[in-house]
Amino acid sequence: MNVLVSAASEHGSTAEIARVVAEVVADRGVQVDVAAPGDVATLDGYDAVVLGSAVYMGHWLPAAARLAERIGAERPELPVWLFSSGPVGDPAGRFARQMRVDAAELPAVQAATRARAHRIFAGRLDRGDLHGLQRTATWLFRGMVGDFRDWPAIREWAGSIADQLAGTQAA
Ligand SMILES: Cc1cc2nc3c(=O)[nH]c(=O)nc-3n(C[C@H](O)[C@H](O)[C@H](O)COP(=O)(O)O)c2cc1C
Repeated sequence: MNVLVSAASEHGSTAEIARVVAEVVADRGVQVDVAAPGDVATLDGYDAVVLGSAVYMGHWLPAAARLAERIGAERPELPVWLFSSGPVGDPAGRFARQMRVDAAELPAVQAATRARAHRIFAGRLDRGDLHGLQRTATWLFRGMVGDFRDWPAIREWAGSIADQLAGTQAA
């Protein structure tokens, strides 16, 4: 069993989620590769993929969407799990709830990969991640700066993927 965990990340926080997912799956004795979507040279040799992306302005990052297309074209039989990382700010707050919607690419990504599941995880926003216009409008982002990633939820999800993979192997 050889699993690819790949996530597109602009400022590193989604890449960290991918690394933790990989760690949890690898702890169950599964061979895991972690690679940014643009660095995946081949899909040959993998038995499953976990694919994620940070969400910006309602969109997945293009590299992740492209990898989804490649999976659909080259390895449509692979079991795939998807995650998006985005919502920042108080999870119960209005903005975080408004952000907690599927990225525009999700229907196409799900159709291409025939994904088994998709999860949205809260993300991290550093003030330094804001640039230009965004920075002049920091009032818009007030209350959203911080690390909202829910590691227990991420680890639990990764564990459930490992369980499902073990089931596939036993079958
Ligand atoms: C300009 C900007 C736009 C954003 N738009 C969204 C969005 O539409 N939906 C969402 O859920 N999160 C949005 N976010 C939050 C990011 O997805 C979040 O900070 C994420 O954890 C960043 O991941 P990264 O560090 O891997 O790039 C936005 C953040 C910034 C700075």
